[in-house]
Parts: sequence; structure tokens; C-alpha cells
Amino acid sequence: MTEATSVNVEQQIHALVGDIHKLPTPPLVFTQISRVIDNEDASAYDVAGIIAEDPAMSAQVLKLANSAYYGLAHPVPHVKQAVIVLGMNEVKNVVLAASAISAFRKSSADREYQDEFWRHSLAVAVGARMLLRTFQAKKILEAETAFSAGLLHDLGKMVVFSYAPEEHQKIQQYLQETGGPDCRAEREILGLDHCQIGAYLAQHWKLPADITSAISYHHTPQESAETGAYDAIVHVADVLAHRAFGSSGEEDNSSEVLQVGCLERLRIPPDDFGRLTVMVVEEYTRSETFLHMAS
Ligand SMILES: [Fe+2]
Ligand SMILES: [Fe+2]
Repeated sequence: MTEATSVNVEQQIHALVGDIHKLPTPPLVFTQISRVIDNEDASAYDVAGIIAEDPAMSAQVLKLANSAYYGLAHPVPHVKQAVIVLGMNEVKNVVLAASAISAFRKSSADREYQDEFWRHSLAVAVGARMLLRTFQAKKILEAETAFSAGLLHDLGKMVVFSYAPEEHQKIQQYLQETGGPDCRAEREILGLDHCQIGAYLAQHWKLPADITSAISYHHTPQESAETGAYDAIVHVADVLAHRAFGSSGEEDNSSEVLQVGCLERLRIPPDDFGRLTVMVVEEYTRSETFLHMAS
């Protein structure tokens, strides 16, 4: 995004939500943990110390660590041990997920849309992680980053839903009457789409560039820079999730088609697509605990 474009997007988002400061604040614990982990001398104790400052986050990390999701043989009694057992990067991932989900969980409006939104987001998260582990094992990409990028890829839709409910309704109506893709409906009503809005929020939260890029380009990975390593993974995971579970609450996602060259770029044999769809459903079923973590 050029500087001029990003200023324009900021103005449009400002017009949309009224006051930019109304947007959820950056997940502070996540930012602090990221900073600590970047330091080579960081220890699990440092990370645990940050989480311990936030009692609600401590409870969520413990709840997840002791859930069926990890299937640990012995219960984890405190946060320090959770960090040691799960690893610092996995805990960072848990904290980001919990922060993002709870930042938008305040509204009681249209619970069904929200639940469907997070179910789709989780399906893309587990799909992205599965694709990375299956096909990208030799590359230096992180499964945790793929998961976070997948979980947050449609975050822009949540901004519209939570902060511009009238426009959200108009978009839903447009989709019902005219069909997808979502981005076209959003551009028609708002002048910008959920990829731009989500990327703006990700920058505001100072999330890693890889995650911001995947949010920006998950529908157009062919337009991303070479460095956008997770863009194509999240794009393919998005298509897989739509095939596995149907639409994400919108009437027509038939336009959710694979962009040319993505499978080749990720070295995924086209014949594997049916098998991968089944695998996404299996991974999702194992991971559903994630959605209960912030409630
Ligand atoms: Fe999307
Ligand atoms: Fe999506």
C-alpha cells in the first residue's frame, strides 16, 4: 500500500466508524510478548510474567492449555508451566487469538453472524497451519504465524459489523440481491473492502508484517509481493474452508475460487484438493475449543 493510498484508506475508515479511536486497542499483552520473544535471551519465565499481569488472559491460557485441544497427559497448574509445555510461540499465538476474539465479543448483536464468522476464521486458521505443515515443511515458515494469519484474515468484516452496523446490513442486502464476491459488495457500499479495513487494523495493532500482508492479499495473492509468504497459504485455506463448510454467512461465495498459480506456488497437487477439504474438517473438529476460550 502506498503512503497516499493508506492515508485515503484511513480517511475512509474514519468516515465509516466515526472516530478511529473507537476501534479496539492493540492487544497489549501480545505486543509485549512479541517484544520479549524477539530478544534472544527471553525465557518462558519472562513470557509467563507478562501474562500473569493480566488475570483474564492467564485464565484463558490455562483453560486452553488444559483443554482437549492439546491433550496433555497431566494438568498444567500455572501459567509458567503452560508456557514451558506449549512453547513461547504457541502461547503468543493463543494470546493473539484470545485478544482478537474478545476485542469483538462485546456486542450482543446478531450472535449467529459472529459465531459463524469465528467458525469460518478458525477453519481457515487450522487449514493454513495444515497446508504449511503438509507442503511447506522445508521452508522457514512458522505454523503459528499461519494459524494467526488465518484466524484474522477477515477481521475487516468484524470492524464493519461492530462499528458500522447500518453499512453491514446494506452489504448483506446487496449480497442477497446481487451475489458475491464480498469484496465487490463492500467496495460498492463502503468504497473499500474488508481486506483494506483488516490490514489497517492490523497495522494499528502493530501485528507482524506477514500477518498484515495475508489480511491484505488473501483474495488476491497474485498481487502480493514475493515476501507475502503466507498470502497464498491463507487464500488456499480460505477456499478450502468455503468448500468444507459452505458460505461464511454470506449468501453467495461461489466466487470464492482459487487464484491461478496458487497451488503451483505452494506445490500442492490439484488432485489433493478433495482430500485436503476432508482434512480441514477433521482439524477444525479437533480445534473447536479455541472458540470457547474467549467466551
Ligand atoms: Fe475475505
Ligand atoms: Fe474468509
